Amino acid sequence: MNATISRRKWMGQMTTLIASSALIAPGLVYGSGLPASPDLIKLSGNENPYGPSPKALEAIRKTLSTGNRYPFGEAELLHNQLAKQMNINSDQLLLGSGSSQLLQLLAHWIVLQKYPVTYASPTFDILPNQVKQLDGLVNEIKMSEDFQYDLDQIGERARKNPGIIYLVNPNNPTGIKTSSKALRSFCERASAHSHIIVDEAYIEYIGMQESLADMIRSNERIIIVRTFSKIYGLAGLRIGYLMAHPDTINKLKPLRIWNNDSLSIAGIAAARASLEDQNFVRESLEKNEMIRSSTIQSLRELDIQPYESNTNFIFFKIPGNKDLASLLKKHNMLVGQKKIDGENYARITIGTKEEMNTFINYITNIF
Ligand SMILES: Cc1ncc(COP(=O)(O)O)c(C=O)c1O
Repeated sequence: MNATISRRKWMGQMTTLIASSALIAPGLVYGSGLPASPDLIKLSGNENPYGPSPKALEAIRKTLSTGNRYPFGEAELLHNQLAKQMNINSDQLLLGSGSSQLLQLLAHWIVLQKYPVTYASPTFDILPNQVKQLDGLVNEIKMSEDFQYDLDQIGERARKNPGIIYLVNPNNPTGIKTSSKALRSFCERASAHSHIIVDEAYIEYIGMQESLADMIRSNERIIIVRTFSKIYGLAGLRIGYLMAHPDTINKLKPLRIWNNDSLSIAGIAAARASLEDQNFVRESLEKNEMIRSSTIQSLRELDIQPYESNTNFIFFKIPGNKDLASLLKKHNMLVGQKKIDGENYARITIGTKEEMNTFINYITNIF
């Protein structure tokens, strides 16, 4: 009898868990579950199609023979190199296996502290979703119709529910940026009551002068999250980092099982070499900008109006509300798609010139 009850209870809990796990990326079809292959054109993950840089590849090759050893010493080298490059102290930095691991750590900390999270959608929502899954409190605000942050509304909501504000700049999936001046003055005001996490995954695409990272030196409540997955082309090698006040870093550290346990020597070697290869970054930026602008031009000729993009992807409302992701998948092409207020929007990562030509050919046939 007891066994039956507890089994039933367990089944109930599992059902809730499975139902809530569907929230992980509500509506956004990433399609990135498929392994990379030459037959697959993957315009769904906002990855850099040119990476890893040649220097990173060479560093990975050289380091593989030490794969039998734990990565702690190497992680420390990356930690110190990165702190120096970012001009911060090493106690203001935390490394993670991709920035998503750091967003997860933050989510766990947020729930333990019982902080409500205020954020505006549509955005990259794995942090608020993780908080929801852990029964934490989340205040979701809608962006304006043209997908701008309503900073006054966010500030007001957070003032009434002080805790955490999560902002992504430039934003994903829209590619729209918020001016660093507006964001900076918002952070100054809102940090009177809340911590502000600024996710700068795509900051390199608008230039480091737009970053708020310098604020962590004087403001204990600013947390910056960044990644090597985008401009550095290391998405599969899983390296991200977080910059914040040492007190915040010290609160997050114990939530990891082991110090820097989740980094691999290959990822560390690639990140270290990539930091030394700013030529690769420059070239990737140039190619992205050139191919992005020709893709936007071709889309406009088809009467498709992408939003202003400040990233390595473009975002537009799909004419006729078509299920573009499914149509392109039949051609082995993956793109992102999200339903907003009943309308389908596409998020297309800027691939190589050839990939984007193929994309435009398919799109021309579809519309
Ligand atoms: C805004 C934003 N933050 C964080 C991430 C996670 O990146 P990663 O875990 O690869 O560092 C992504 C990935 O697309 C993103 O778009």
